[in-house]
Amino acid sequence: MEDTIQTTYTIIDGKKISTDIKTEIALKVAARKKQGKKIPHLAIILIGDDGASQTYVDNKVKACKSVGFHYTMLRFADTISEERLMKHIDHVNNDDDVDGFIVQLPLPPHISVERITENIRSDKDVDGFTNHNFGSIISKHPLLMPATPFGVMELLRRYNIPTEGKHAVVIGASRIVGAPLSMMLTEQGHATVTICHKYTRDLSSYTRMADILLVAVGKPGLVTADMVKEGAVVIDIGTTRVEGPEYQKGWAIKGDVDFKNVAPKTSYITPVPGGVGPMTIASLLLNTLRATELRNP
Ligand code: GUN
Repeated sequence: MEDTIQTTYTIIDGKKISTDIKTEIALKVAARKKQGKKIPHLAIILIGDDGASQTYVDNKVKACKSVGFHYTMLRFADTISEERLMKHIDHVNNDDDVDGFIVQLPLPPHISVERITENIRSDKDVDGFTNHNFGSIISKHPLLMPATPFGVMELLRRYNIPTEGKHAVVIGASRIVGAPLSMMLTEQGHATVTICHKYTRDLSSYTRMADILLVAVGKPGLVTADMVKEGAVVIDIGTTRVEGPEYQKGWAIKGDVDFKNVAPKTSYITPVPGGVGPMTIASLLLNTLRATELRNP
């Protein structure tokens, strides 16, 4: 029998799915308002003036406005001490009007991400970064899920892409994306999961076995066509800002996958931008709504 070669593939439209989710959230917020219930309130803490962080935060504020959430922006100079920042976090932790909050990363080097994260009340940790929320992924009752992996799972679910019994290969084992995503694929997706990382030898011997290949490394062009099995699902979570005169703005966001050459081999693939990226903010909004519903049913 001749091999069948995949000739068509679906580009997963994260922008559309995130718009659908935002519409669903806006309807729920409007219903809560009508019933006299509390409107979700997200607080965002931004330290310093990193351009990329500012853009992310602006998008989060825009998203809050678009679904009718209340929001508060708290900005501090990058000279703020860890102790003072902790005081502000304590204040937000104890502010009953705030349902969820995030501390935008990265932080200046003199501040410990671990110490700051662990000081966030887990029921307000809408990034899903605390150990408590992280660990809850493998419990019967997951709490607030890390936003990016949650967004990936939601994309797979809404595109009816089966995960059960499939071999998912995750490249990247970060605390924010790769590690929780692997746990979600196992626990919620019932997939067989292989985690690859910077110490993995002969990476392509693993990626070629993947029914679903998920990449979160931050190295544009890492995944080439020869590394991908015919008909695989490819999820690109990389976001690297690449500068160059050929780009209109002087820079462009690039994923980890050589999209042009990889796409024809796949059944489904996410583009960058417009794939997983918009889902991160949609997940943040979903978590904020969930935190509000848990605190103020
Ligand atoms: N920096 C880059 N992505 C994120 C994110 O999802 N949450 C926070 N808090 N900081 C980030």
